[in-house]
Amino acid sequence: MKLVLLGAPGAGKGTQCKSIVERYNLLHLSSGDILRQERAEGTDLGKKAQDYMDSGALVPDEIIIEMMAKAIKKAPAEGFVLDGFPRTVNQAAELDKALLASGQQIDAVLNLEIEDRVVTKRITGRRSCPACGTVYHVENLKPKTEGICDKDGTELVQRPDDTEQVLANRLENYHRQTEPLVDYYKKNNTVYDFDADRDPDNVRASMFEKLDVLVKT
Ligand code: AP5
Repeated sequence: MKLVLLGAPGAGKGTQCKSIVERYNLLHLSSGDILRQERAEGTDLGKKAQDYMDSGALVPDEIIIEMMAKAIKKAPAEGFVLDGFPRTVNQAAELDKALLASGQQIDAVLNLEIEDRVVTKRITGRRSCPACGTVYHVENLKPKTEGICDKDGTELVQRPDDTEQVLANRLENYHRQTEPLVDYYKKNNTVYDFDADRDPDNVRASMFEKLDVLVKT
């Protein structure tokens, strides 16, 4: 299965991807996580992306398309879930072109729908483990010991772009540049819309319901 997960910052893309990849044995390809890894390693790519990310702007298409094309080439035969990519119509068109060249296509797009007012609380309260990537929330999903990862005891951190001010830019860019992808995909692909303003378990159950049918077809 080759899936694309769409949704505003804080819609729960990363949270849901973790369960999807486990259940269907897929590779989770998060453009945001790859960029943060490049930054942590101090690569040229990471340095180029830094200022865009910290201000809530999109990293230029040419950088992202090349980076994701490399990542997709390493995906297993079972397939992948794209989280955070594509994010512009140009990125989506380039992805389609690259897949088509090897006789492939996106099987389904999972669109997490959420209002801006809901994501502000989620984003400003998010904490994550820099070692294993596990995501927590200061109110909704607390670790057993405050500020410490349950899995490996590492001190949790807040992403530098998870402030209200930067989030406003991220949301503005989402509505202007990424939301049009829903209509783009509705022309030629199967798109499933999900109400993301629900308990994560309920969102997950709705997704599994659709995907279980998809894997059987
Ligand atoms: P990226 O890392 O992709 O960030 P994003 O899209 O803004 O998404 P988030 O990771 O913030 O949200 P999410 O939907 O994954 O939410 P999560 O599950 O963690 O991108 C960062 C930056 O990189 C971009 O701004 C850009 O600069 C650059 N970039 C990346 N890809 C790019 C591309 N293709 N082109 C150009 N630039 C690119 O959940 C958030 C919080 O809410 C957590 O605390 C979680 O516990 C909680 N939560 C989740 N679900 C629920 C629920 N149902 N109920 C209550 N709480 C919930």
